[in-house]
Amino acid sequence: MTLLDGKKISNEIKEEIAAEVAQMKDRGEKVPHLAAVLVGNDGASLTYVGSKVRSCKKIGFGSTLIHLPEETTEDTLLQKVKELNEDAEIDGYIVQLPLPQHIDEQKVLMAVDPDKDVDGFHPVNFGKMALDMESFISATPSGIMELLQRYEIDTEGKHAVVIGRSHIVGRPMSILMSQKREAANCTVTLTHSRTKNMKELTLQADIIVSALGVPHFLKADMVKEGAVIIDVGITRVPDASKKRGYYLTGDVDFENVGKKASFITPVPGGVGPMTIAMLLKNTLLARERHRA
Ligand code: GUN
Repeated sequence: MTLLDGKKISNEIKEEIAAEVAQMKDRGEKVPHLAAVLVGNDGASLTYVGSKVRSCKKIGFGSTLIHLPEETTEDTLLQKVKELNEDAEIDGYIVQLPLPQHIDEQKVLMAVDPDKDVDGFHPVNFGKMALDMESFISATPSGIMELLQRYEIDTEGKHAVVIGRSHIVGRPMSILMSQKREAANCTVTLTHSRTKNMKELTLQADIIVSALGVPHFLKADMVKEGAVIIDVGITRVPDASKKRGYYLTGDVDFENVGKKASFITPVPGGVGPMTIAMLLKNTLLARERHRA
């Protein structure tokens, strides 16, 4: 079994980006600048956004964190989005999800300039991705594709089963894996919480991408010998004995599934770090497109 070391690969990608940023600086060019909007104080979101901003600093990007209170109105947030669209210093930005209940997420995402939408959540970017056109591909699915590619995993004609149909991971993942592109060309089955014969399907899978958010959902008896396992789930399980009061766990029963898998991602340290690396890559791309 080979561990798919997302931490290591993401560090390699960050070093590649840092080298490009250094060259931009040497040429006297503007460096990429990523902004992140966070509304409220959700613990996981605070951690993710903090990590994104820190990564920017490390590789030489400019970064701006816009932290708005939980009670921020939809209008105020839309105004902020408008400002970011118009701010020439900002190459790309993200609005961290989930947003508070009183804000219409779709409305906010629709207001983001597609040319600055480094999360790839705007319908224009999602549509372009689905049509094989150049776009911003959202960071988690593209991070998984990059991981498969860098470990030279043979995906050609293989059966990929995606678990979870979210707009951010499962749905785009199912589209990407079915496309005529590197680390893809798969036959894809997209499964979700209403799927009746889950085990029957996962047992046929050469590659499983689980993005359900249910700890230890994927058990060893659901997996074929030699399957490639990608675990996108990252759930905080309360545990008073831990320093932070919780531990992180994936969708996969790693200990037992790992014994059957050919390749498997750990949680944490698998898909998570790849997401940040690909967000930075998209921001570099945004800078290059704005310059062109
Ligand atoms: N919430 C969970 N994942 C993501 C992500 O990739 N981007 C944003 N903006 N919010 C998220």
